[in-house]
Amino acid sequence: MTLSRLKKMKMAEEKIVCLTAYDATMGYWLDQAGVDVILVGDTLGMVVQGHQTTLPVTLQEMVYHTQMVQRGNQHAWCVADFPFMSDITIEKACESAAMLMKEGHANMVKLEGGSPRTLSIIERLSELGVPVCGHLGLLPQSVEKNGYRRAGKDEASAKILLENAIALEKAGAEMLVLECVPDYLAGDISRATSIPVIGIGSGGESDGQVLVLTDILGTSVGGVPPFAKNYLVGAGSIQQAIQNYVDEVRSKKFPG
Ligand code: KIV
Ligand code: NA
Repeated sequence: MTLSRLKKMKMAEEKIVCLTAYDATMGYWLDQAGVDVILVGDTLGMVVQGHQTTLPVTLQEMVYHTQMVQRGNQHAWCVADFPFMSDITIEKACESAAMLMKEGHANMVKLEGGSPRTLSIIERLSELGVPVCGHLGLLPQSVEKNGYRRAGKDEASAKILLENAIALEKAGAEMLVLECVPDYLAGDISRATSIPVIGIGSGGESDGQVLVLTDILGTSVGGVPPFAKNYLVGAGSIQQAIQNYVDEVRSKKFPG
C-alpha cells in the first residue's frame, strides 16, 4: 500500500479499511484479510498493557509493538501513534518519528490535535519526508483534561474542527483520523479535504473506517464503545471476524 493508492481510493470513493494491531500475529492476519491501513495505536496502553488511559505508553513501547506488527504485515500501510508527550516540540517529534520509522518500520506517524504547535510540527516532519496522520475530535491523550466526550456537537466547535482539518492538510498531513464527531461533519471534512479521512464513531460519510481490534472481537476489558460492532459473534474464527469487518466497511454496510 502507498499513500498515492490511498488517495486514489478516496477519489474513487472506495472505502479505506483500517484496524488497530499490536503484535505480529494480528499484523499478519489483518494484512491477509486485506486491511488497507494498520494502526499501531497507543490504545495498546489500555487493551494490551491494562492501563486506564493511553497516557502511560512510552515511545520505546510504541517502537516495540510497531516492530512486531511489521514483522507480520507484508502489504498494509502502517501508521504508528506518537505516545503522550513524545511530540511536544519539533525536535522531540523529529526524534520520535525517527525511532518509529527507522526502528519500528512504520510508514507514517500520527499525532493528536490541531493547535498551531501541531501544525508547525507537521510542517517540519513533512518537509523531512515523514508522512503524518492528524487526529481530531475526541483526543484520548487529553482525556484527563477533557474527558471522553464527543466533539463538534455545536456549530461553533464543528466550524473549528473543519478549519483545523483544512489547516492540517495545508501543513502537510497526508491522512486524518476523526474520532467521535457528528456524522455530517465527518462528511463535510472528507469533502473539504483531498487527504483520506478515516472515521471512528463518526458515521459512514468519511473516506474510511477504523476500529480498535479488541472492540471488534469483543474482548476489550471494561466494555466496548457503542459505535463498535462485535464481528466474532457468528464468525467462527478471529480471521473470519476480521474478514467480515473488512467486507462490511468496503460494502458500506458498516457503520451503516
Ligand atoms: O490509538 C488508537 O487506537 C487510535 C484509534 C482509536 C484511532 O488512535
Ligand atoms: Na491513538
